[in-house]
Amino acid sequence: MIDLQRLPKAELHLHIEGTFEPELIFALSERNGVPLPYPDVQSLRDAYQFSDLQSFLDLYYAAMGVLRTERDFYELTSAYAQRAVTQGVRHAEIFFDPQAHLQRGIAFETVVDGITAALDDARRRTGLTSHLIMCFLRDLPAQAAFETLERAKTRRDRILAVGLDSAEVGNPPSKFATVFEQARAQGYLTVAHAGEEGPPEYIWQALDLLKVSRIDHGVRCLEDEKLVQRLRRQRTPLTVCPFSNVRLRVVDTLAHHPLKRMLDAGLVATVNSDDPAYFGGYIGDNFQGVAADLHLTDDDIVTLARNSFEGAFIDDMTRSRFLAEIEALHV
Ligand code: ADE
Ligand code: ZN
Repeated sequence: MIDLQRLPKAELHLHIEGTFEPELIFALSERNGVPLPYPDVQSLRDAYQFSDLQSFLDLYYAAMGVLRTERDFYELTSAYAQRAVTQGVRHAEIFFDPQAHLQRGIAFETVVDGITAALDDARRRTGLTSHLIMCFLRDLPAQAAFETLERAKTRRDRILAVGLDSAEVGNPPSKFATVFEQARAQGYLTVAHAGEEGPPEYIWQALDLLKVSRIDHGVRCLEDEKLVQRLRRQRTPLTVCPFSNVRLRVVDTLAHHPLKRMLDAGLVATVNSDDPAYFGGYIGDNFQGVAADLHLTDDDIVTLARNSFEGAFIDDMTRSRFLAEIEALHV
């Protein structure tokens, strides 16, 4: 029996603002004098009933309003790092949404400096390694993404990749083809949310127009056999988020989640937590949920852990070290 919490894994799909637990939201609301439209932690938690992605995003952006200082971003990130390590995360590639903060008058540097100081401390204390991925909000104009790319120049060395998130339907990857081209010219790697609520066509566009190294979510690829063949042939990693898909009603129950079908189709699927403070659990909890409800075998579990390191932006020596650790557990 594999210990799913301790199994070494990489987390490749995690929004740092989605790790904002209600207790910390309230503490920072008080400290910063920014009121919340909820009387207490429990009533905020009770509001976590989502009908789709947009209903979640409305609350997610509202809660972020209490994040104001570098110390706030430090505390948010430290809390995630501690939780992640207890659930077996050895390496994390972390999204952040700079536009959601810039719009509120928070400097780009305040956000990045708080997050990176916490990640540097976590590495020293626990060995957790990490990268930062800056996401563009796809429901804003492409011009706003260009401006954000420009703002990021002061912290270029701390950001490895750009991504694309927020409301998917009606905001196809094609809208961001030019800004992603510029980002690649500046040396950024690229990823994109695609095929969460949006159609398989958005996954094709992410591959062909944005030249992504990974697809975030991608569960709707199964509707298009030619696309499945392409993803399998290229070994494009898909960063699947099972609890998220249930909470945002992409799938009706965990028992009906397509993850097992994706593995059986030979896709490089991984398990991730997306916005764990909102969706009922961190990455180890997601592993436990799918292992039970999808009746995953030990081989499936080991494949998921291996896939997470195959999909990570790490060098081959580091990758081999992590893979050897997994093999040592799986005798
Ligand atoms: N931002 C935070 N979580 C997201 C998700 N699951 N999809 C799109 N944008 C997001
Ligand atoms: Zn996401």
